[in-house]
Amino acid sequence: MGNYTITVLPGDGIGPEVTEQAILVLDAIASRYQHTFTYHKRLVGVAAIEAEGEAISDESLALCRQSDAILFGAVGGRSDYAGRDKVKPEQALFKLRKGLQFFANLRPVKPLKNLLSASSIKPEILQGTDLLVVRELTGGLYYGHLEPPVPGKPSEIRQTEHGTEAIDTLLYTEAEIERILRVAFEVARDRQKKVTSVDKANVLSSSVLWRQVANRVAAEYPDVAFEHLLVDACAMHLIRKPTSFDVIVTENLFGDILTDEASMLAGSMGMLPSASLGTQKTAHGRLGLYEPIHGSAPDIAGQGKANPIAAILSAAMLLHYSLGLKDEAFAIEAAVAKTIEEGYRTEDLREAGATIINTQQMGQKIAAAVLK
Ligand code: NAI
Ligand code: MG
Repeated sequence: MGNYTITVLPGDGIGPEVTEQAILVLDAIASRYQHTFTYHKRLVGVAAIEAEGEAISDESLALCRQSDAILFGAVGGRSDYAGRDKVKPEQALFKLRKGLQFFANLRPVKPLKNLLSASSIKPEILQGTDLLVVRELTGGLYYGHLEPPVPGKPSEIRQTEHGTEAIDTLLYTEAEIERILRVAFEVARDRQKKVTSVDKANVLSSSVLWRQVANRVAAEYPDVAFEHLLVDACAMHLIRKPTSFDVIVTENLFGDILTDEASMLAGSMGMLPSASLGTQKTAHGRLGLYEPIHGSAPDIAGQGKANPIAAILSAAMLLHYSLGLKDEAFAIEAAVAKTIEEGYRTEDLREAGATIINTQQMGQKIAAAVLK
């Protein structure tokens, strides 16, 4: 029976469509468990650029900082978006991640048992998969292009006497590596107690440091099994034997690529939620930003085809990590599983024998299942 404030940033394309369904499900939770959720909705992405001249306003950022959690849809326009060379909609994400120091991106991958046949991987390989990728989100090759430039981290295309060249910098400090490793070991303690640290230590100095720090942190968690894996081998094992993983922790770019690969284990981009966490505490837990891993999908926007489950499961993560409402989070996951079990699917999961419903109907089915 608590009062909670959630900043909602629906964004562009299917962002508002799926976020609306996540709110419908949160409202069902509020009603079942007697909570009060107050939503503050703000523009972000293309919508904000067109109305306010920037991808996210300072006022919206301040509001995010003061709330208990942030529910995010997706940003980005069509590739022919006229503003692409000026203000980029993605700047909203960079500003949020960097500004609020959301350094830990948690991406759980747990294919539903009734959806095993929806994946491009064989059901017998998927059976029992339940892994969590912990992706470092504020360092590595990213953010080098920010203004003003990060000292010692060049990222540019430049002219030299030998022709044009381009450079990005993969920079990690010991402190950045240590804090993300700690997140991985802490969450592993609530799971199967196994951490796989993924790097490219055979060629990258940043990975050699990563490995040293990982070994040091691992020694503090003797109850958690620990292994190193090179990123190329990890990419292979993810589809060869996904059940061999519990928690995978890795740097920013490796995490980005590995999670797009891992999303296919769950059957669709429309199934995978995420949480981005930092150090800022709120009255109920940690401030976090919750969003589906997919983008604004302009190809299906406005047609009722978007699968809202990734957004709905992101709302479940919000309840768990920022509001400390674990039973409520579980109630959402159970409602999603039940709705899928009953045979309801959005277009992206079309299968023989399934009942195809639209975005709004899927939200309504899941909200109704929460209330049952
Ligand atoms: P996307 O993730 O938007 O779409 C990829 C494919 O998956 C499309 O065919 C789309 O129809 C499908 N898809 C995605 N989400 C779905 C859902 N919930 N239900 C059913 N089908 C779904 O990636 P894309 O097309 O590469 O990018 C579109 C825009 O989104 C770009 O502007 C990109 O920059 C942006 N983007 C934004 C992200 C964010 O806000 N965090 C993340 C990724 C991309
Ligand atoms: Mg990606």
